[in-house]
Amino acid sequence: MAKDTLTVIDNRTNKSYEIPLMYGLYPTESSAIRATDLRQIKVSDDDFGVMTYDPAFMNTASCQSKITFIDGEKGILRYRGYPIEELAERSTYLETAYLILYGELPTKTELKNWTHDITFHTFIHENIKKFIDGFHYDAHPMGMLVSTVAALSTFYPDAKLIFNAESVKKQTYRLIGKMPTLAAFAYRHSQGMPYAYPDNDLSYTGNFLNMLFKMTELKYSPNTVLERALDILFILHADHEQNCGTNAMRGVGSSQVDPYSAVAAAAAALYGPLHGGANEQVLRMLTEIGSKDKVPTFIKKVKAGEGLLMGFGHRVYKNYDPRAKIIKQIADQVFEVTGRNPLLDIALELERIALEDEYFIKRKLYPNVDFYSGIIYQAMGFPVEMFPVLFAIPRTSGWVAQWEEMLSDPEQKIARPRQVYQGPAQRSFLPLEQRS
Ligand code: CMC
Repeated sequence: MAKDTLTVIDNRTNKSYEIPLMYGLYPTESSAIRATDLRQIKVSDDDFGVMTYDPAFMNTASCQSKITFIDGEKGILRYRGYPIEELAERSTYLETAYLILYGELPTKTELKNWTHDITFHTFIHENIKKFIDGFHYDAHPMGMLVSTVAALSTFYPDAKLIFNAESVKKQTYRLIGKMPTLAAFAYRHSQGMPYAYPDNDLSYTGNFLNMLFKMTELKYSPNTVLERALDILFILHADHEQNCGTNAMRGVGSSQVDPYSAVAAAAAALYGPLHGGANEQVLRMLTEIGSKDKVPTFIKKVKAGEGLLMGFGHRVYKNYDPRAKIIKQIADQVFEVTGRNPLLDIALELERIALEDEYFIKRKLYPNVDFYSGIIYQAMGFPVEMFPVLFAIPRTSGWVAQWEEMLSDPEQKIARPRQVYQGPAQRSFLPLEQRS
């Protein structure tokens, strides 16, 4: 019978080593070796042993996880086993967040209590408003969000009790409940508008729209189509296994810092234009292209290495991002309310040309989640600077779930990669006067 091992022969010593393989549950063909098993491979007793070298984690699993499954070749995304398409159609963001965090869909009572607990924590301390006030009028809302979520740790010192289940539960409610409030207050500040307080009669996304767009009306009523569209967008962004931001959450969290500081680190990672900041860049790119007839010239420039086609390509998906497919479908419903965003025609033309072009076909570059989301957000009235913020709010549930999974995994320790040192060998210090 075939053995589940690899045999490695060290040609320097002619020694052979048998290394066990481990498997993911699904698909069964995904296999891995433990990198530390390679350390026994040495040329001498004082040799450190073989390491793996993998910049950017191109082929390294940093954890075992039960939360999100992606098959990048087939374009499949599931949270806790449930296909993203079914969740987008039948679930709500808060229900999906519960699923991601606790592994199962909630019962009626669980959902009621969960919704109550999150809603109960939507208010922020009045002092937080004061330091939002301190930001410059044109401060980027994502910068404000990163700073204010980090600052929450100073308001809740009990957050340091990361192995206390009650405390973790409370910080989870606070984080998911307060992120929309921080985001909306950052937005209102950038618009020079008074803050609008949470309305706990509304849904999670309905209340968010209220805090963003409420004017003089006594009670804000969100447009139900836009409220649902935003909820679906939040479901699609809730988790995405080990991406840059989540890796930051786990890595920073592995030092056993409080979850607010770790979420701030994750949000900072998400801010970058190659990650959650890409939706903002897509809008800027579409605006710069300006009209459909300029698309071929733009594609030519991308192929010549003069910039990227933002919203295209993915480390894991080598097929159409399933989230982009769903977003494209809901665009029409949103445009019926808001009017059609003229940038959509440019985006559709970019997609059409890119999907037929050898450069993109060969590299398996398809639209990702950010390609169409910005067009919808813009039509809904969000300025481009808010786009990464709209990614960070729903991703908070994923970050917290991944953080909790990391903390309860007995194999996890403080994250501390190795390096392959390539610098100078030991040398003696030269006094200043002897340096040329
Ligand atoms: N436009 C043009 N060429 C591209 C693009 C693009 N958007 N993405 C990748 N390529 C090319 C790249 O130049 C390289 O070509 P070559 O083999 O000739 O050097 C090849 O495709 C492989 O790309 P890579 O950079 O090695 O791939 P990666 O896995 O390191 O990067 C990525 C993934 C998402 C950072 C990258 O595709 C990218 O920069 N895309 C644009 C930014 C973007 O849309 N980001 C959002 C990602 S999805 C949401 C999220 O994660 O937040």
